[in-house]
Amino acid sequence: MHVAIIMDGNGRWARERGLPRQAGHRAGAKAVRRTVESAARLSVDCLSLYAFSSDNWSRPRDEVSHLMWLLRRYLQSEISRCVENGIRLNVIGRRDRLNPEIVSIIERAEATTAGGKGMLLRIAVDYSSRDIVALS
Ligand code: FPP
Repeated sequence: MHVAIIMDGNGRWARERGLPRQAGHRAGAKAVRRTVESAARLSVDCLSLYAFSSDNWSRPRDEVSHLMWLLRRYLQSEISRCVENGIRLNVIGRRDRLNPEIVSIIERAEATTAGGKGMLLRIAVDYSSRDIVALS
């Protein structure tokens, strides 16, 4: 079974609680951890998370940096847990506009988890339906 999730509503979640948008994104990243664990436990074959669309580049600079920081921190902190649970990580979308440091963290995460026999965790970053050629 393939489950795909469009990560949406972080801003609304924060606004309803009188918190800044960044708090919503932090809570979203925490929810990703719980979701990945549950999906793996339920024997989902592939979990696709649409995390950062190409349109998201037009958000305020601080918000984009915070999202990139969350992504980087997630990849760095979850690699070992993915390996333990046999989860294979794959990032789809354009890489040429990402910070080279994030690209190398992505490459490392993919290489380190490549042997996993369990769920495929696919994270879409800088993706757009208008940019089919760039999707791999
Ligand atoms: C949509 O909420 C969410 C995003 C644009 C970003 C989601 C990405 C992360 C939390 C980064 C970490 C990613 C991973 C995979 C760990 P919104 O701001 O559009 O909220 P709204 O729909 O309420 O306006």
